[in-house]
Amino acid sequence: MLQINPNLTDLVSDAAAGLTASLGSKATITAAAPGRVNLIGEHIDYCDGFVMPFAIDRYIVIVGSANNTKEARIATAIEGEAAVFDVSIPQQEGEPKWSNYLRGVIRGFQDRGHQIPGFDAFIHSSVPGGAGLSSSAALELATATFLEGLLDTRLDTREKALLCQKAEHDFAHVPCGIMDQFTSAFGKPNRLVLIDCRSGEPELIPFDNPDLTVLIANTMVHHELNDGGYASRRKNTEDGLAILGRASWRDVTAADLQANWDKLGNPINRRARHVVGEISRTIAAAAALARNDFETLGPLMAASHDSLRDDFEVSCNELDIMVNIARKIGRNGGVIGTRMTGGGFGGSTVTLCESRKATEIADVMAREYTAATHLTPQIFASRPSQGAHLVT
Ligand code: GLA
Repeated sequence: MLQINPNLTDLVSDAAAGLTASLGSKATITAAAPGRVNLIGEHIDYCDGFVMPFAIDRYIVIVGSANNTKEARIATAIEGEAAVFDVSIPQQEGEPKWSNYLRGVIRGFQDRGHQIPGFDAFIHSSVPGGAGLSSSAALELATATFLEGLLDTRLDTREKALLCQKAEHDFAHVPCGIMDQFTSAFGKPNRLVLIDCRSGEPELIPFDNPDLTVLIANTMVHHELNDGGYASRRKNTEDGLAILGRASWRDVTAADLQANWDKLGNPINRRARHVVGEISRTIAAAAALARNDFETLGPLMAASHDSLRDDFEVSCNELDIMVNIARKIGRNGGVIGTRMTGGGFGGSTVTLCESRKATEIADVMAREYTAATHLTPQIFASRPSQGAHLVT
């Protein structure tokens, strides 16, 4: 069954009610930042590659106001424990764990010379957590946007995204690339955020064909990116580049890999094959999408998944099951392409399909996935939406 996306207005009013109920405060500032889904270009944002995500119509919302103290008091609808900490001093990591995303972003503002006044805030979310949809980047961008409101200042969008990426590195210990924060920051309705991760240039490309639907299927297998798997993949790619003696993966060809296959050794040679292949697949996918060539796009998404499963080894059984179900429905059943999306090790798949068949496809996916795993997936359609913004 297709889940309905909660609308942003309702999320904001629920958050405002939560703020009053939990802290007795009234909201003067409301910030919203979306999660993301990636169509193709996986695990190559930290390899100077291309990625093709969009900001989904699911948000993390932070509402609040200054409280005339030195403390941040933050309650949430997503985590049990509220956070209270002194914001007049440079932020360090602390408890509860989830507060580190906020502490990291506050630290970024402090490092830029901003004094942070105490504030009350309430966090609400429609981005499923641990689902590979960048709820952490959404929380970081929502925090940064909230602080912009609180301080009555505006950061350059790119700088804001980079500040949030640093918070993820330093306070959440995930050595992520720039895809998630850039997408949550730069997203626009009806646009994909095609990012050249070497130049750091996001390009907004049209994605507004009503005949196309993007289905996101959360396997409900929780993914954690700070348990070593993500960092070790990133290290593999850095080691590979060093062995090849190159400055950027963009300068490495398939022929280079063949010539250096044994020197690279297993598993680095397979990691490298993923990176080089995925960069060219993403370039080809952007071109295919621009000319509505779905017969090319679908197989590129399939090859991306297989490469992530076999060479990069970041898929898992449940992701493979979900992808295989959609593959079996196939082009005749309205499925254009399907693959895992995001960091992997659990999380979600992304399926591009014909709109008129989307509900039926989601039903089959849910039914067959449950039959195979005894898990109830969460499946919803998503359209490209507005990136992080203050809600007025
Ligand atoms: C996570 C990271 C991103 C990116 C993806 C994989 O979402 O935060 O930077 O590396 O994994 O494509």
